[in-house]
Amino acid sequence: MTIKEALKQGGKALQNGKEARILLSHHLGIDSLQLILKENEVLKNPDDYFGLIRRAQADEPIEYITQSASFYARDFFIQKGALIPRPETEILVDKVVQLAQTLHKPTIAEIGVGSGIISCLIALLVDDVSITATDISQEAILVAKINAKRFGVEDKITFIHTPYLIDIQEKFDIIVSNPPYIADDAKVENNLSYEPDIALFGGQVGDEVLKNIIDIAAYHDNCYLCCEMGYDQKEPLSKYFKTKGLGEADFYKDLAGFDRGFTLTIGENNRK
Ligand SMILES: C[S@@+](CC[C@H](N)C(=O)[O-])C[C@H]1O[C@@H](n2cnc3c(N)ncnc32)[C@H](O)[C@@H]1O
Repeated sequence: MTIKEALKQGGKALQNGKEARILLSHHLGIDSLQLILKENEVLKNPDDYFGLIRRAQADEPIEYITQSASFYARDFFIQKGALIPRPETEILVDKVVQLAQTLHKPTIAEIGVGSGIISCLIALLVDDVSITATDISQEAILVAKINAKRFGVEDKITFIHTPYLIDIQEKFDIIVSNPPYIADDAKVENNLSYEPDIALFGGQVGDEVLKNIIDIAAYHDNCYLCCEMGYDQKEPLSKYFKTKGLGEADFYKDLAGFDRGFTLTIGENNRK
């Protein structure tokens, strides 16, 4: 079987020519241009390629199969145990980077570092930044450390295996989090079953982890809090800020026009 024939068969099986092409590039360890140039060559180890196709047919996300995820135009390492980066989280990165660039030697805490996309990008884009990144998942921290090394920012990020910011005494200028925010009993798509539950589900209502993070930031005082949230959580969180006397947050939308996150200033003036 030639590469061209394998591509046709794979694309038909997946009903997705693009994914079949990505999997074949991954299988052969070549890029898409080389794939075109080699399309009349005989495919070596076709069984291995069709093994990848079968995994994709079973709804396993292509990022886990190829151990590669694109975020902010960069190629991050990913594997099961860490959430696959979502494009909307790029907006959260932009919010934090904008704030951090107004501060002198900013200190930042990320709660729930996952694959490390947020902390790595901040470390790449902000000068003299120092980041403390936590997660309750050792598997996620392992992936984040690999990415920090890949992008040469391991000296700027301290990884700590702990819930929230428990047992961390340092004060931070900015606390950032993309926490789990889906309700525990929400019906979700099949492919999400490959991702860790602790990265997705935030409690019975869904916003429990977010509210805990807000409480921690309020206790922390004098900092910015930047978080991603569910599209339907603006109202309950606005009420929560009011109840806690935290004032009003700046909510932002994602590119599809859904409410997706907020920035909250806690304390009077956190500029150094
Ligand atoms: C939605 S994922 C976000 C991962 C990554 N920051 C991103 O944006 O792709 C949430 C992460 O929070 C972690 N997590 C869940 N509850 C946590 C807690 N109480 N304290 C620290 N991390 C937590 C999960 O293990 C997961 O890695």
